[in-house]
Amino acid sequence: MSFTPSAHIHGHKLVELLGSWHGTARPSSQALAAALRQLALDGRLPPGTKLPAERDLADALGVSRTLVARTLDRLREEGFAASRRGAGSWVKLPDRERDNESHGGWFPAADSEVLNLAQATPSAPPELCAAVDQARLRFAEQLSGHGYQPHGLPELRERIAERYAKRGLPTNPDQILVTSGAQHGFALLLRMLVSPGERVLVEHPTYPNALEAIRGLNVAPVAVPMVEEGWDLELLAASLRQTSPRLAYLIPDFHNPTGIRLDADGRARLARELARTCTTAVIDETLAEIDLTGDQAPLPMASFTDRALLVGSASKSFWGGLRLGWIRASEDFVQRAVVGRAAVDLGSPILEQLVLAELLRDADRLLERRRAESIERRDHLIAALREHLPHWRFRVPDGGLSLWCDIGAPVSSRLSVAAEQHGVRVAPGVRFSVHGSLERWMRVPYTLPGDQLEEAIRRLATASSSMPDGPGPTALTAPLA
Ligand SMILES: Cc1ncc(COP(=O)(O)O)c(C=O)c1O
Repeated sequence: MSFTPSAHIHGHKLVELLGSWHGTARPSSQALAAALRQLALDGRLPPGTKLPAERDLADALGVSRTLVARTLDRLREEGFAASRRGAGSWVKLPDRERDNESHGGWFPAADSEVLNLAQATPSAPPELCAAVDQARLRFAEQLSGHGYQPHGLPELRERIAERYAKRGLPTNPDQILVTSGAQHGFALLLRMLVSPGERVLVEHPTYPNALEAIRGLNVAPVAVPMVEEGWDLELLAASLRQTSPRLAYLIPDFHNPTGIRLDADGRARLARELARTCTTAVIDETLAEIDLTGDQAPLPMASFTDRALLVGSASKSFWGGLRLGWIRASEDFVQRAVVGRAAVDLGSPILEQLVLAELLRDADRLLERRRAESIERRDHLIAALREHLPHWRFRVPDGGLSLWCDIGAPVSSRLSVAAEQHGVRVAPGVRFSVHGSLERWMRVPYTLPGDQLEEAIRRLATASSSMPDGPGPTALTAPLA
C-alpha cells in the first residue's frame, strides 16, 4: 500500500479518543485492537494517520509494550494498520472498505418512487419565474454584444459585492469572478494553485465533490478529523505544520455535512495559523447564508486574512439549477483566474446571470423565507428521527441543510443499500470520508417537505430493522456491504 501522508497523532490525543477502551475488563490486545478498528472505521483516525511509537503508546496507555506490539500485529493482519521500518506504523483500511468506497453503489438512476435524501438541495423559490420574466426583458439588451463575459456580468458582480459588504466585508465588484457554481470555482482554484503530487488539507468529513476534484488532479488530501464541537484547531495547526499542504479547503460556514459554524475567535486563530504556515485557504461559503440562528454572524474568513479565497454559490440560497457561483479574491487574483478559466470555459450563461441579479435585489426577503422553511423542516426531521430511530444521535445544527447522525454502529453503507430497497435514497458517511471510513455516520438533509421527510424516516427505520444485524451495534468485523 502506498503511504498517504497525514498528521501524526500524539499519544495523549489517542488516549483521549480511545476513552475507556477496555471498560472494567483487564487491558488486552484484543480490546485495544477493537477500539482502534472502531476509530478507523468511523473516521476519527483517518487512514494515513501515523501512530505513536510502540513505547510511547504503551506509556501513554499505561500498558506493556508487548501488548501494544501484539495489537499492532493484529491490526496489520486484519488490514487496519501498516508499518515500515524507519517510517513507523499508520492507520489504513482493509481492501474491502476501499472496494466498498470505490463502488459507491448507493446512487442508482433516478426513480420517481424513491424519496431522495441523498442531496441537500432545496427547490427554487416561487419568485424564480418572475425573475426569469424580468431577466428576459433585460436579455434583449445583451443580444447585440458577443455574449462572452468571462468575469461575469457587471451587474451581477456588483450585487454579489454588495452582499459581501452587507456581511461586513467591503468588496469591490472587480474582486468577484462569476463561475458556473461553487464546484466549478473550487475546481478552477485547484487547477490554478496545486500541482499533481502536492497536498490539500481538508476537514474530515468533507464535501464529497470537493474530494473528487482533489483526487481527479492526483493531489493527496490530508484529512484533519472534526471533533464533536467542530474544529480541533490545535490538530489543524499541527497538520498544517507537519504536512505543508499547498492549499487548505475548508467549510467554516455550516460545514457540510456537520452543519457547524466556526466562531469569530476560531476564525482569528485559523487565520494566524494560515499566516504562520504561509498556506492559502479556499473557504467554501456555499451554505453561509443558510443561517438558522438569527444571531449576528461572524465575519467572512477574508476579513481575518488575505490568504482566504472565498467561493460562494447560488445553489442553496436560491436554486441549484441556475448553476451559478463566484470566487471572491483580490483584483489581481481575479484577473489571473480569468486567464486560468479560459482553459476550461469562457464564461457563465448570460440569461441565468440576469436571473440571479434579479433574485439578489430581494435577497434579504428570499433568504428569510428560506430560513423559516429550513427551520420548520429541520424540526420536522428531528421529531421524525426521535420517533422512528430514537437511538440515532445528532447535534441540532445552527445552519446548513442537513443533520449529521451517529447511527450507533458502523453500518451506514449497508443501511443505505437496504434503504434504497425501501424507497429512500440516503448518503452514507463513507461518501464524506477521505479514505472510506465514517461507517457510523449518515447525512440526513431537511430539504424535502415535512410529510415526505416523515415518510422517508419511516422507510429508513423499516430498512434499519430489516438488516440482518438489526439497528444495534454490530460486530466490528462484520463485512460491510
Ligand atoms: C459545501 C458545498 N460546496 C459546494 C457545493 C456545490 O455548489 P454548486 O451547486 O454551486 O456547484 C455544495 C453543494 O451541495 C456544497 O454543499
